[in-house]
Amino acid sequence: MTQYQTGFGNHFSTEAVPGALPVGRNSPQRPAFGLYAEQLSGTAFTAPRHENRRSWLYRLRPSAEHPPYTRYEGAKLFAPGTDTAPLAPNRLRWSPIADPTAPTDLIDGITTMLANRDPADLEGVAVHLYAANADMTARAFVDADGELLFIPQQGRLTLLTELGRVDIAPGQIALIPRGVRFRALLPDGAARGYIAENHGALFRLPDLGPIGSNSLASPRDFETPAAAFEDIDAPFELVQKSLGSLWTTTLDHSPLDVVAWHGNLAPWRYDLARFNTIGTVSFDHPDPSIFTVLTSPSDVPGRANADFVIFPPRWMVAEDTFRPPWFHRNVMSEAMGLITGAYDAKADGFAPGGLSLHNLMAGHGPDVASWQAASDAALAPHKIEDTMAFMVESCWPYRPTAFGLTHAQQDYDAAWSGFPKAVLPNP
Ligand SMILES: [Fe+2]
Repeated sequence: MTQYQTGFGNHFSTEAVPGALPVGRNSPQRPAFGLYAEQLSGTAFTAPRHENRRSWLYRLRPSAEHPPYTRYEGAKLFAPGTDTAPLAPNRLRWSPIADPTAPTDLIDGITTMLANRDPADLEGVAVHLYAANADMTARAFVDADGELLFIPQQGRLTLLTELGRVDIAPGQIALIPRGVRFRALLPDGAARGYIAENHGALFRLPDLGPIGSNSLASPRDFETPAAAFEDIDAPFELVQKSLGSLWTTTLDHSPLDVVAWHGNLAPWRYDLARFNTIGTVSFDHPDPSIFTVLTSPSDVPGRANADFVIFPPRWMVAEDTFRPPWFHRNVMSEAMGLITGAYDAKADGFAPGGLSLHNLMAGHGPDVASWQAASDAALAPHKIEDTMAFMVESCWPYRPTAFGLTHAQQDYDAAWSGFPKAVLPNP
């Protein structure tokens, strides 16, 4: 039975073997059982205390013990770099990627769709899709380029991480910090979903301003695993993403060998159904920032490096209001995915597992059918049910990969053709 500790960014202490965790110090001369003490830093040593994230790991062998890395030749669609040709200011939309036809684990099943900064900038975000049908056995992955936010769309994921086991299903999300090694099992035999890879400031809960001290995502609903480890002395491949490319090395043991740890840099999971959604009780459709689950700030106040925003089931009660998202153009760039159901601004063409991109200043909003229906609707209280869309909004315009450019839907612009012209009164 997996055990979780609760609280976003808490300082946790956990040991899988009693006595493994030092008391009152981080690095004793001889840690218990001959374990190796190792610090994992997610922020600079000197980051302000309220932003400082680090954990101390007590493991069977130091993570420094590994042979040289060589280029990884698998996962050709994972982190290939974005297309370098000038990018047309077109809106883009994608249908779900194909299921793998051969045995494919999570890492080999990743297709990078969008990215917007060089990971070495320590800014930006990449959006990946995954479709896998095999467990990662004798193989782990580590991302030196950023933290990974998993957004399952089909099939459960079991993430065996250095710091413990995280189980998630569609409707839940999980985060694995930069540098934390893990392998993924697929309890349902197959899994599909999205990954947002954040190169910038760590995701945190947004400030609530006048909303007050509660609402949106509640810190206590974030669950971090208790320590759990593998004691496997057998060849184990470790694939690493570093500076935008993939590398591999082979260890003689499982790297998931952390027996105890303490600190505030750790994986977590969160059930999106626990998000306390705020909306209007009078009129107008508020800005979607009220749906922000997590934010990664940039150096400009209020301008996110990345916001993770959801569109969950909710009541629509606004009076004299066009209730779906309005038409707009945005200096921020919007990548959207759909976990389940339908999105209230698109009648069709945006399938669960699909993706869309409305880059900076791209005109978008409801398609004709959604606009017509919402314009004609009787404005009784109405509940949007059985849906979960999300957005990874960034201040940095996205660029698609070559795969993304060549696999985009060809008719997306048609969603906004055929609007009737407004009719002015005769002078
Ligand atoms: Fe938008």
